[in-house]
Amino acid sequence: MPPINTEAVEMMLRDHKHLLQLIQRIEDQCTPNDRPERCRDCPEPQRGVCHGNIEQLIRAFVEATLKHNLTESAFMEGVLPTVDRVAHNRAHMEIAQQLKEIRVVFSGDGNGIQAIEGIARVRQTLLSHFKEHDQLLEFHIAQSVLADGYDNPALQPTG
Ligand SMILES: [Fe+2]
Ligand SMILES: [Fe+2]
Repeated sequence: MPPINTEAVEMMLRDHKHLLQLIQRIEDQCTPNDRPERCRDCPEPQRGVCHGNIEQLIRAFVEATLKHNLTESAFMEGVLPTVDRVAHNRAHMEIAQQLKEIRVVFSGDGNGIQAIEGIARVRQTLLSHFKEHDQLLEFHIAQSVLADGYDNPALQPTG
């Protein structure tokens, strides 16, 4: 039987790495040392290119985040105590809300610099989230499988 606990936890850690890489790619769209106040201080067509890249990367980041949250929610079933599950899912919703606000503002004013700075703040939120919620979930996944007491379809062997 494959080590299911390892697979689930590895999937979570892979996702986390991917999310942090996407944040870095978004930040890299505008150099921190040479960053203007607002995008309109940059010449066209530079602005158009940046805007398109930032928009596309943020969309990819939001999609990856929402998918990751669903994956973790599935792992939680029957594994995490209810109080922790509720808190964890609520924390996911707060991250989703933070991202939604960034997108709404960006689609309104098109100021990519503000969007980049918003995403950089999400990195802090995510890093705290890994510590406060995801580590606990990883622990419970490992424990429940060790105890052979899991009945969660998301954690069943696939092959
Ligand atoms: Fe996570
Ligand atoms: Fe999480």
